[in-house]
Amino acid sequence: MKFFIDTGNLSQIQEAHDLGILDGVTTNPSLMAKEGIKGEEAITNHYKAICDIVDGDVSAEVLSTDFNSIIEEGKKLAAIHPNIVVKVPMIKDGVKAIKWFTDNGIKTNCTLVFSAGQAILAAKAGAKYVSPFVGRIDDSGWDGMELIGQISHIYQLQGFTTQILAASIRSALHIVKAAELGANVCTCPLESILGLLKHPLTDIGLAKFLEDAKKL
Ligand code: E4P
Repeated sequence: MKFFIDTGNLSQIQEAHDLGILDGVTTNPSLMAKEGIKGEEAITNHYKAICDIVDGDVSAEVLSTDFNSIIEEGKKLAAIHPNIVVKVPMIKDGVKAIKWFTDNGIKTNCTLVFSAGQAILAAKAGAKYVSPFVGRIDDSGWDGMELIGQISHIYQLQGFTTQILAASIRSALHIVKAAELGANVCTCPLESILGLLKHPLTDIGLAKFLEDAKKL
């Protein structure tokens, strides 16, 4: 399973990259706004800065919602760097645009996916990635991980090549479950990635080893 970091924060991206386990980055308009990035030039420069840190797919989300504008915006985003993946929302014009991008050699990530039916449409349109939002499904009182398992099962059965990108990750346990259920990629906040490091028995064991090492 690949590890993407879900942020627009350059120092967090650098920290995850320095760990040596980072395969890519996802962003969204909320994450970009959080970094105070405003205007087309600033957005473009920020994506360039991300691509300079990470040698892997970087999802850049379109802000448009109608077919023609999604295509124009997506073409500009894709021209920023070969690693840019155009992130397109799961709406009717979005599906149409994903098909257009696929036919024209532009990689896409279909975002805001909350059902298996939507995941089938994304795969049919040729998206490179489909992003089911696990945490937001959990927040609404359902089991987000069930959807990862269901999509994984359907894609395998049908031979779809779209990669399942588990998104809206809230914890280290989410990452482990996504791996167990066959997600191809997990995009996570830095905190959840670092959460994988933690185990109390590791801390206790290390403290004991360091204590005994003094006797050597
Ligand atoms: C996915 O690509 C989104 O950027 C992200 O995972 C959404 O996560 P959230 O539900 O924590 O906002």
